Amino acid sequence: MVLYSLLFFTFLLRFVFVMTAVETIDGQRKCSSIGCLGKRLAPKILGTSPSSVPEVLYEVFEEPSSLVNEKNPGPDIPQSLEDFMTEVRETRPDARTFALKLKTMVNYLEQRTRTAKIQEYLYRHVASSSIPKQLYCLTLRLANEHSMNSAARMQLPNPEQVPYLVDNSFFHFVLASDNVLAASVVANSLVRNSLHPERVVLHIITDKKTFAPMQGWFSLHPLTPAVIEVKALHQFEWISKGKVPVLEAMEKDQMARSQFRGGSQAIVASDSERPNVIAAKLQAMSPKYNSIMNHIRIHLPELFPSLNKVVFLDDDIVIQTDLSPLWDIDMDGKVNGAVQTCSGDDKFVMSKKLKNYLNFSHPLIANNFHPEECAWAYGMNIFDLEAWRKSDITQTYYHWLQLNLKSDLSLWQLGTLPPGLIAFHGHVQVIDPFWHMLGLGYQENTSLEDAENAGVIHFNGRAKPWLDIAFPQLRPLWAKYIDFSDKFIKGCHIRDS
Ligand SMILES: *[C@@H]1O[C@H](CO)[C@@H](O)[C@H](O)[C@H]1NC(C)=O
Ligand SMILES: *[C@@H]1O[C@H](CO)[C@@H](O)[C@H](O)[C@H]1NC(C)=O
Repeated sequence: MVLYSLLFFTFLLRFVFVMTAVETIDGQRKCSSIGCLGKRLAPKILGTSPSSVPEVLYEVFEEPSSLVNEKNPGPDIPQSLEDFMTEVRETRPDARTFALKLKTMVNYLEQRTRTAKIQEYLYRHVASSSIPKQLYCLTLRLANEHSMNSAARMQLPNPEQVPYLVDNSFFHFVLASDNVLAASVVANSLVRNSLHPERVVLHIITDKKTFAPMQGWFSLHPLTPAVIEVKALHQFEWISKGKVPVLEAMEKDQMARSQFRGGSQAIVASDSERPNVIAAKLQAMSPKYNSIMNHIRIHLPELFPSLNKVVFLDDDIVIQTDLSPLWDIDMDGKVNGAVQTCSGDDKFVMSKKLKNYLNFSHPLIANNFHPEECAWAYGMNIFDLEAWRKSDITQTYYHWLQLNLKSDLSLWQLGTLPPGLIAFHGHVQVIDPFWHMLGLGYQENTSLEDAENAGVIHFNGRAKPWLDIAFPQLRPLWAKYIDFSDKFIKGCHIRDS
C-alpha cells in the first residue's frame, strides 16, 4: 500500500498532468492514442478510485531503473515536460513506450532536482555558518583599535574588581563566544535587565584570534557597575597547565569526521539518501559543529575552580528579564538546570526526545537509554559546579565520545548536545520554560508575543539574528541591544534592518 501511494504521488500525479495536457492539445482521437487514454484515466485517478490505471504503467514504474547520467542524459530523454509532450504528440507511442519514456524523464528530472536540492541545502548551510563581512569588519576595526589605542587594552576587569571574579556572593554568568557583536548583545541585555547589575559578573571566554577585538569592545563599552571579564582559552590556568582532553578529543573527532564513511565524495555520491540527509552529513564534517566554544562547557568546573554555581549562556540568546532568581531555584542535588524540549505550545520546536538525537538502532544506545525520554536544551543552563565536581559527568562525556568514534560515529552525528544528553543523564533539574524560549532561528512561526514575554529567547537554528536570513519580525528583539549610532557599528555598516 505504501509503495502504491508512493508511486501514485511521485509518478502518476505527474502522469495525469501530462495526460491531461496532451489531451488538451490534441483534442479527441480514437482510443488507441495516448490522448484518449488520458481522457479515460484522468478523471478516475483524480476521483476516488485510482485502481483503473493500466497494469502496464505499474509494471514499468516498478521495474528497477538504471540511473541516468546527469551530464549526458542521452539523446532519447526529453529534458522537460514540454519536450516530452511534443514528442508524444508527434510519435503517438503505445502505453508501455509512453510509460518507459515518462519514467526515464521523471528519473532524470528527479536526479537533477536532487542535485539542485543538495546544493540549496548546502547554500543555506554556508549562509548560516559563514561570517558576514560586517562582522569581519567589526573584528578588524576592533583589533586595529586594540593595537593603536591603550584605552582599548584595559585589563578586564580592572584590578580592584578582580576579587569579585571568585566571590560566590555574586551572580556568575559564563559566555563562550568568538562573535563580538553577539557577545555584546548578550552582555547588554543581561546587564540592562538586571535588578542588581552591581552583583553581576560576566565571564566571557573567547579564542586567541578574537581576544583583542573582544577586549577592545568591552574596554570601550564598559557595562558598569557589572563586572565583565574577557579571557582567551589559552589564558586559563587549567588549559595552560598541559594535557587538555577537550583539544585532543576535538582533533580525533575532526579526523573521524573528515573520513566519515568515505568522506564527502562518498556522501554526495550516495543515491539512496534524501538531499537534506546528505546536506546534514556534509554539515557534520564542518568545523562549525566541532568548535571549541561548543565543547568547552564540559570543563566549567576546571575552568572556574573557585565558583560554586554559574549560569552558562550561548551567544545567540537575548536576556529580557532579571536572571538573579535562577540562583533561588532548588537544584535538588542535580547539576544542570535546563528547560525540557518535548512539550509546549510550539509543536515544531518542542518535540525533542532522546530518539531525536541518539541512534536507538544501536544496542549501546538502546540498552542504556529510553527513546521517549524528554530532551533538554543547552543555551541557558544553571550549572551547580559543586555537585558537578562530585559526579563523573565529564568522564562519562569523554567515554561516550570515544565509543562514538569507535563505532564510526553511529551513536550520534551532530553537535555537542547528544553527548551532553548522555553525560548529564540523571543530573538534570527541569526549570520553567519561561527561562529559555527556543527556536527563534529555526522557524518563522514563533509567536512574537510569546517571544516578548519570555525571560530568555534563543535564536537557535540557522537564522541567526546577525545574518541576512534572520526572520525580520524577530530580529528587533535582538537588535534593540545594539547601539546603531556607535562608531564601530556604524563604520562597519551594521544596520537596524
Ligand atoms: C545506527 O546504528 C545502526 C546499528 O549499529 C547502524 O547500522 C546505523 O548505520 C546507525 N545509523 C546512523 C545514522 O548512523
Ligand atoms: C507555519 O505556519 C504556516 C501557516 O499557519 C504553516 O503552513 C506552516 O506549516 C508553519 N510552519 C511550521 C514550520 O510550523
